[in-house]
Amino acid sequence: MDASVIREVGRIRADFPMLAEWTHMNCGGMAPLPHSVGAELLRVPQTVVSEGPLQLLGHEESFLRHDAAREVLARFINASADEIAFTTQFSTAVNIVIEGMTWAEGDEIIVSGEEHPALLIPVLNLARRRGLRVRRMPVSHDADEMLEEFRARLTPRTRLVAVSHVTTDSGITLPVHEMTRLAHEQGSLVLLDAAHSLGQFRVDVKALDCDFYAMVGYKWVMGPYPSAALYIKRDLLDDIDVTWTGSRATVGGGTQMELDDLEWVDGARRFEYGGRPFSYDTAMAAGIEYVETLGLDAVAAHSRRLAEMFRDGLAGIPGAHLKSPHDPDRMTGIAAVALDGVTGVDLSAILRDRYRFVTRPALRGTSVRISFAAFIDDHDVERLLKTLGMIVREGS
Ligand SMILES: Cc1ncc(COP(=O)(O)O)c(C=O)c1O
Repeated sequence: MDASVIREVGRIRADFPMLAEWTHMNCGGMAPLPHSVGAELLRVPQTVVSEGPLQLLGHEESFLRHDAAREVLARFINASADEIAFTTQFSTAVNIVIEGMTWAEGDEIIVSGEEHPALLIPVLNLARRRGLRVRRMPVSHDADEMLEEFRARLTPRTRLVAVSHVTTDSGITLPVHEMTRLAHEQGSLVLLDAAHSLGQFRVDVKALDCDFYAMVGYKWVMGPYPSAALYIKRDLLDDIDVTWTGSRATVGGGTQMELDDLEWVDGARRFEYGGRPFSYDTAMAAGIEYVETLGLDAVAAHSRRLAEMFRDGLAGIPGAHLKSPHDPDRMTGIAAVALDGVTGVDLSAILRDRYRFVTRPALRGTSVRISFAAFIDDHDVERLLKTLGMIVREGS
């Protein structure tokens, strides 16, 4: 396949059985699964059914391919494998970081005005328990405006900036390079929510220089639900206390463990403990490999082009309002749209029940969020625009 352009959407679509029946424009919610990811997800349990659990019991890497999956994810974001912990839930990744940091009453955390509860709930819970102050930076379509709002909230008490790389509802890319630089100057750490950046475009955590990158596997990298992982900058590993732990997290922790054997395994793997959902982790890596075969730059350009096509088409529909940015540096393959006279909740239901488009209500139910993934083509966008035009004209 051409490295820079997605040409054969039909061939991609054939990898996803679900797409025979649906136009799935909610990759930002949960991706459909391609055959290869489904096969990886079932590989270990099917072998256990047919051959028994001996290889699983022995945690044989040749069978589990878990370290190999860690390598795949690390390479994908330009990290090293010892900086990656599989966490299953996104919120677990956030909890590992924030519960492992050392806090004093009055310390501050900055979040953005468009954070997902998966990040906000752990942060608010921590703040309530430890007497911290959470400051909210409004999100807009203008980078300079956002940086101004950010600077206004950054103080000597800021210990952590915890914001989305790409926001969940309107798909805005925050100016995270500059925010990270400013935060570091002030002595604050930076945790980015990567749910909507991983798989949408090329990510290089070293270039971003963020301290923590909390990732989700079941959206733009087309892995299974649930799957998630955390990148922790190597130098910070020993600064984050291990809070919840258990078997297999230590070097000394065999069944005959001594009382002085509490030495963590090297790398971010120390945050994984107990029985692990290996298949979900390796299937997340299979999703990444699938996206890599399409060509990540090609996928990013394709999604962006469709989002632009949608934006241009919306301009011709009276009563339709784009809630996502026009600025090429801020926009992504996510577009939120509001129609006069119809709530986002109703619109999403109409699109699903009458026209077989999968979307999701957004911006507190006022809009609908559309995700333009690699398996969406021009024809889908044209059909969506035509459908929206019809809904506006008919009043529902
Ligand atoms: C921005 C963002 N962060 C995190 C998540 C992960 O949420 P959860 O932990 O419920 O899987 C999502 C999922 O929708 C999201 O959109």
